[in-house]
Amino acid sequence: EAAEKAGFEHFMMKEIHEQPKAVQDTLNSVIKDGRIDFEAVGITEDEIKGFEQIYIVACGSAWHVGMAAQYVLEDMADISVRVELASEFRYRKMSLNPKALMIVVSQSGETADTLAALRLAKEKGITTMAIVNVVGSSIAREADKVFYTLAGPEISVATTKAYSAQLAAMYCLAVQFAKVRGKITEEQYGYYIAELLTIPEKIQKILEDKERLQWFAAKYANASDVFFVGRGIDYAVCLEGSLKLKEISYIHSEAYAAGELKHGTISLIEQGTLVIGVLTQNELYEKTISNMLECKSRGAYLMGMTTYGNYEIEDQVNFAVYVPKVDEHFMASLAVIPLQLLGYYVSVAKGLDVDKPRNLAKSVTVE
Ligand code: G6P
Repeated sequence: EAAEKAGFEHFMMKEIHEQPKAVQDTLNSVIKDGRIDFEAVGITEDEIKGFEQIYIVACGSAWHVGMAAQYVLEDMADISVRVELASEFRYRKMSLNPKALMIVVSQSGETADTLAALRLAKEKGITTMAIVNVVGSSIAREADKVFYTLAGPEISVATTKAYSAQLAAMYCLAVQFAKVRGKITEEQYGYYIAELLTIPEKIQKILEDKERLQWFAAKYANASDVFFVGRGIDYAVCLEGSLKLKEISYIHSEAYAAGELKHGTISLIEQGTLVIGVLTQNELYEKTISNMLECKSRGAYLMGMTTYGNYEIEDQVNFAVYVPKVDEHFMASLAVIPLQLLGYYVSVAKGLDVDKPRNLAKSVTVE
C-alpha cells in the first residue's frame, strides 16, 4: 500500500496532487487544436442546438459540481439549468421537458440514486449524458452519451481529483454549448479554451503553497463549528469545502449563501467561531465581505480566500488565502484546492483516518 501512495502519507493527499493531471487529461480528451470536439462523447451540434433545458442530477460532491456548473452554463450558454439531488429527483413528480438534456455526474458510476434517476429520465424519453469516471460502470453503460473524466482510480473516500475532473468536463460542455448556440464569438471561444488550459498549472501553484494551510489547520483543529460563506459560484465552492471538512475531520460545518446568513445562521456566531469566506467573483466581492464583517463584529474569526492582487482583504479578515486568477467562470477549480487541503490537514492534526472516515463509503450502491 505504501508504494501505491507514491510517497504520500495518505491517498487523499496523493489524489489532491494528481489534480493537475486529472484536469489536464480530461481537457485534452476533448480539446483538439484549440477547439472542443465531442465526437467521442457522441453529442452532435444539432443536438446541442435543440436542447431547451438542462437537468443536472447527482449526489454528494458530484452534486456540488452541478451546483457550480449551473452558473457557468446559464451565464455562458444562456440555457436554463436545474440541479437536483438524485435521491430527491427520483421520488418527486416533476414536469420534465422532453427536449431536455439530463446530465448525471458520478465518479463511481454506481451510485444507486443517480442510476435510478438516469433510468427514470430515459423512460420519459429524455436524452441522457453521464459525466463519469469509471469505464464500463452501470451509469456509463446506460447513459445515451458518455463524457469520461480521466481522473484515474480514486481510493480516498473523500473525492478530490474526480470532483476537479468533473468540473473540467462541465466547463467544456458550457463553452461548446455557448459556441454552438451562438452565444459567444469565435474570439471568446478561443479565449475560454485558452483559459481552461491554464487551470492545471494554476492548481499546481496552489499546491506549492500548502504549508500555509497546514499551519492554519493545526490552529483550528479543535473548532466545534465552521461556516463557509460565498455567493454564486463561490457558494458552490463553499458547499464542497464544507463537505470536505465535515466528512474527514468530524467538525460540524455548514455552507451558506452569504446573503442568507442574516436569516438565521448568524445567531450561531460566537466569540472565535471560524467563518470562511470565498471571494473569487469580482462583482460579488463587496457583498460577501460585508456579510463576513457582520460576523466579525459578533466575534467571528475570518478566513478569506480571494485572488492574488486583492490584498486589501488583509484589512478585513484575520487570515487571507490567495489563489491565482483564471476567467471567473472557472474559479471553482482553483478555489476548491485550499479547502481540500484545509480538510485534509485538520483531519491529520486530529489523528483521524483520513482515507476511510467513519460511517462513509466510497460508493453508495444502496438507498
Ligand atoms: C459518496 C462519496 C462522495 C461522492 C458521492 C457520490 O458519498 O463518499 O465522495 O461524491 O458518494 O458518488 P459518485 O460515485 O456518484 O460520484
